Amino acid sequence: MIIIGGGVAGLMAALAASPHPVTLLNPGPLGVGAASAMSQGGLAAAVGADDSVALHVADTLAAGAGLCDPEAVERIIGAGPALVETLLRLGVRFDRHGADLALGLEAAHARPRILHGNGDQTGAEIMRALMVRVRATPSITIVRAAARKIVVGDNGVAGVLAVRGSEILLLPSDRVLLATGGIGGLFSHTTNPEGAIGHGLMLAMDAGAALADLEFIQFHPTALDVAGASLPLISEAVRGEGARFIDETGAYFMRGGDLAPRDVVARGVFAHVQAGHQVFLDARGIGARFATRFPSIAAICARAEIDPMTQPIPVRPAAHYHMGGVVVDAAGRTSIEGLYAAGEVARTGLHGANRLASNSLLEAAICGEAAGQAMAALHAKPLRDVRAEVPVLPDAVPVRPIMSAHLGVLRDAAGMGLAEEKFAEMAGQNPAAALALRIAQAALARKNSVGAHARVETKQFYKAA
Ligand code: SIN
Repeated sequence: MIIIGGGVAGLMAALAASPHPVTLLNPGPLGVGAASAMSQGGLAAAVGADDSVALHVADTLAAGAGLCDPEAVERIIGAGPALVETLLRLGVRFDRHGADLALGLEAAHARPRILHGNGDQTGAEIMRALMVRVRATPSITIVRAAARKIVVGDNGVAGVLAVRGSEILLLPSDRVLLATGGIGGLFSHTTNPEGAIGHGLMLAMDAGAALADLEFIQFHPTALDVAGASLPLISEAVRGEGARFIDETGAYFMRGGDLAPRDVVARGVFAHVQAGHQVFLDARGIGARFATRFPSIAAICARAEIDPMTQPIPVRPAAHYHMGGVVVDAAGRTSIEGLYAAGEVARTGLHGANRLASNSLLEAAICGEAAGQAMAALHAKPLRDVRAEVPVLPDAVPVRPIMSAHLGVLRDAAGMGLAEEKFAEMAGQNPAAALALRIAQAALARKNSVGAHARVETKQFYKAA
């Protein structure tokens, strides 16, 4: 079986499938370019004494604005406490207070339930432990190559065409898992790796798999406002420790509160920037604790020559997480026989219209594991030779300004319509534009504002911000 992608979902799937032989395709060295490794926020699980799965389910459903799949929410959130045990067994070192797991509170969570690793390096800590295990598992072969096509025959998936430098690899397999991450790289500013342009969604689209909820894209309000497309994240946890939004005049402007739900805050920051202001996060009140509580953010600020103890941190909203994706069932099965998906590329129904913070590492690990187990349990079909042409390379460059202008934090019908027209012109020659077209069409079809899909025709969003 073939796993495409070496983030948390892909690694959990590979380990869960063991001792079934797995080829893990990753375009670069393992851990590099994976959004999982950049995740600062943490992993949410109802493991506190005063917490319960029912409370975590309720918070997840509320964030999803009525569009979650309740069965998926119960299943995935319910598996959280057991997942924490599994990750501890796999060697993940979550932060502790004495002997107990340290549990942090984040916006829209009713209880402290966020597990961290090395403060703000949770994703990197989980990846470290999983990579140690993966490298020590003889049934897993890591191949540094980029998947370019899922080959589908009469009986479902037949294999993968991948490219390694100038070499074309035709890899037969009746089972393929997409664990390729998100689409933030389709925007001019993202907290994702720049290369996260929705490759997995393009592969799934080309194979004919069903996609859903493509219009639901979460924007994070506090990416560091520096040059470049991939912006370092300044975690919400910094506001949890008391940092506040100010503008260039030093005035507080966030009407809904600095820790209001992420979509509300992102709209507030976006509207203030649109009104010609510069936005900063004032973390000076945190003082010397900043460096120990947020070592990775302190290093990010140092690289940008900002001292959070004495200077406000310049921030802007950036594309952060895609709630939509390839439609999957509880085992990660897509609508194409033999094709599976897990992690951000998949649409499980957990997030609905908006993701509750720190639910994504949880989902990636649980659903990656479930998909790996399901794929390993299948009876193998006879492998056939696979033949395919290398498809056109996607190019996100012409797509980014249009996505950012018309499918960003606030949307209107005229802008989305213009985006649809422009993407339709490019779609035939550029798979990134073909994916952007599907996103624009989904956004146009969603007539009301809900969750992360905010149409300016629906005035309550300006008021809330
Ligand atoms: C953050 O730490 O602000 C991001 C966490 C997340 O997106 O879950």
